[in-house]
Amino acid sequence: MEEGAWDGLKQAAMGARANAYAPYSGFTVGAAVQTRSGAVFTGCNVENASYGATICAERAALAAAVAAGERELMALVIASGATSPTPPCGICRQCLAELAPSLPIRSYTDNAHVEYELSSLLPNAFGRDQLD
Ligand code: THU
Repeated sequence: MEEGAWDGLKQAAMGARANAYAPYSGFTVGAAVQTRSGAVFTGCNVENASYGATICAERAALAAAVAAGERELMALVIASGATSPTPPCGICRQCLAELAPSLPIRSYTDNAHVEYELSSLLPNAFGRDQLD
């Protein structure tokens, strides 16, 4: 990914973060995923009074891409207001690995970012191969 493309994803993730529904944690997160076609899909966290029903920003973005018929994920950006950039949670790692086990991920705060590769965040992932 070129730096300009990362920047576009960052802007998209920050825009989605502005729509986050997080009345319980107060921790708003946005995510943006780029697919092979070049399209960008966004998500934000959507909390629920039944806390476990909360949807993370990353899974919301993943679902938006799949719903549009796009399954080839090229890169993902997370945007939060945390003190330091936050990695995706375990459930999101598993969900993203279903379609893109080596997905490049960047996490941004207001003034810093960190880059990960999903295969490093979720080594020895359980996947469809184990179902054979
Ligand atoms: N959250 C995300 O949206 N993505 C992450 O990677 C970590 C956590 C959300 C879930 C919940 O609404 C809030 O952040 C606090 O955990």
